[in-house]
Amino acid sequence: MKSKIVIIISMVALTVYAFFTGCKSTPHYTLAQFISPATCGGCHDEIYEQWKNSMHNLAQKDIIYKEYAAFYLDDIKKQNPVNKDELEEAESCVKCHIPVGFITGKPVTVTEELAMENELPEITKEGIQCDYCHVIIDAKKNYNAHFTYKPGNGEADPGVKYGPFKDATPDWHQAAYSRFHTQAAFCGTCHDVKHVVYNTKLETTFEEWSKSPYNTGDEKTTVPCQGCHMYHRPGVPATGSTPRPNNPGFAAFGGPQRDHIFTHYFVGGNSVIPGLYNDKVKGKMAEERLKNAATILIDTRDISTGAFAVTITNTGAGHKLPTGLTDVRQMWLEIVILNQYGKEVFSIGKADKRGYLPDNTIIFKTIFGDGKGNPVANIAKAKEILFDNRILPKESVTNTIILPKGLKGKYSIQVRLLYRLADQKAVDEVMKDKAIKLPVIEMATAKKEIVL
Ligand code: HEC
Ligand code: HEC
Ligand code: HEC
Ligand code: HEC
Ligand code: HEC
Repeated sequence: MKSKIVIIISMVALTVYAFFTGCKSTPHYTLAQFISPATCGGCHDEIYEQWKNSMHNLAQKDIIYKEYAAFYLDDIKKQNPVNKDELEEAESCVKCHIPVGFITGKPVTVTEELAMENELPEITKEGIQCDYCHVIIDAKKNYNAHFTYKPGNGEADPGVKYGPFKDATPDWHQAAYSRFHTQAAFCGTCHDVKHVVYNTKLETTFEEWSKSPYNTGDEKTTVPCQGCHMYHRPGVPATGSTPRPNNPGFAAFGGPQRDHIFTHYFVGGNSVIPGLYNDKVKGKMAEERLKNAATILIDTRDISTGAFAVTITNTGAGHKLPTGLTDVRQMWLEIVILNQYGKEVFSIGKADKRGYLPDNTIIFKTIFGDGKGNPVANIAKAKEILFDNRILPKESVTNTIILPKGLKGKYSIQVRLLYRLADQKAVDEVMKDKAIKLPVIEMATAKKEIVL
């Protein structure tokens, strides 16, 4: 009887607590509920090796993330008076970049994340991890990580892990089928990012995919994010322009052989950060992915009028090209005309020795504005999208290039589509002495000889 009363009282207390904490986004979970990825790796060894040093694993340790987060926040804190709405956005990065820390209450802001860097529990620094994704049961909204979770109680009572199998019977943890995990919206709940106050669409990968031909509306023919990114493995880029064969094997020691095991490399365009952690696999995979994303066509039919056309087609990506944080990313055209002796007579988009691009460069990107038409570099200040010339999935963009006057004889036009994680000039400004010299990846090339 006594224990019943105690239970009732504590339940009431919990409800009251949950009500008040529900109003503020204070923690609903404790860190002790979550299990370290290395423990999962004890049975899921291949999946663990793939995920280790992936961009999900490194989402918090990522130096580019940390330097940008600090730079944006500092820029807002320097305002006088500080704009509260912009501060709220600049503090919000933690919910995706250190999600286990955020939902267990440490850190809940970027200020806290940066200040307690050395005291953060190791498990939270492991980024987007096994026991975060596999305890997700649903989402309230498909952006800004508005998930609902059902974690277990640590290693003593690991609880249910949700995944794609309807017949898994592991004995250590329980398993349950989750349709949500097989759908693009699962990924989309983090890969669509909105300004927390202004609602400006900062990243729209999921929305871009939703409107694309890869989303047919029929589950049998739809290719979700997982259909490309979780088929990707070394030598199999699995894009829209390359085969996406099954990856037969075992999901765990003691499990049955299955037709397809979803891979966990989570590779996009980032060929830089995994390598800083001695990963020798993912950088090359990113290059392979980028090299199967687009094609270039040079059309010189109207060359006698003094112009030619360059068409880029997004053949491989299930979203716009590029996607993600495209105010930061750089994808551009380099166009060079050589005379018959190989001497350059004309160029567009050729980087200088520092890696900086000239003003005439054709860049595919997004530019945010302050609501009055002025560009802003800090996403916390973004009230509008001023410009977006990125290439839709399975569609093309054509640019007309005017030849310089006075050319006579034989020439060669050489076009390259190039990709870099960020504008080198911006990286040098934001990261200062920590700046990385970002490699330029050649996504596609084309050549054409002309006679003028
Ligand atoms: C003691 C071994 C063991 C450990 C440790 C382990 N698992 Fe498993 N897990 C298995 C086995 C066995 C299966 C079933 C595989 C199959 O049926 O193909 C499985 C299946 C799964 C599934 C698929 C569930 C479904 O129904 O689709 C997920 C997700 C999963 N584990 C996640 C995890 C996570 C997260 C951890 C760490 C918190 C973990 N596992 C730790 C053995 C283990
Ligand atoms: C970003 C979220 C995410 C992370 C992090 C993640 N998984 Fe998964 N995992 C998924 C999704 C989604 C699927 C199912 C894909 C589908 O069905 O389309 C899956 C499938 C699985 C399966 C079923 C077998 C397979 O691969 O098809 C197991 C087992 C599993 N994950 C274990 C793990 C382990 C262990 C880790 C950590 C080393 C991990 N996952 C990290 C999202 C994640
Ligand atoms: C048809 C195959 C395909 C599908 C479907 C697909 N992607 Fe991609 N994804 C690619 C290719 C190819 C690239 C490399 C080119 C690029 O960076 O856009 C890529 C790149 C990315 C990048 C890195 C972008 C950058 O440059 O920083 C992210 C993030 C990403 N995808 C997430 C997603 C998410 C989330 C979904 C589902 C909403 C998805 N992808 C669906 C093929 C696909
Ligand atoms: C908890 C939020 C979250 C979920 C859920 C999530 N992602 Fe991510 N993802 C991120 C973040 C944050 C990064 C970037 C980390 C960084 O660059 O520092 C990222 C990075 C990536 C990248 C690498 C991008 C690059 O530039 O190379 C790919 C590919 C990707 N995610 C695909 C997926 C897919 C596919 C799913 C669904 C199975 C998924 N993500 C689910 C938050 C998430
Ligand atoms: C709702 C989830 C979410 C939130 C909130 C979020 N991000 Fe991200 N972030 C992502 C995803 C997804 C990617 C991967 C996109 C890509 O690779 O193009 C990413 C990638 C990045 C990268 C690229 C890192 C690299 O190595 O190239 C930087 C920088 C970054 N985010 C900074 C921030 C900052 C600063 C904030 C807060 C102002 C923030 N993010 C808030 C989801 C989020």
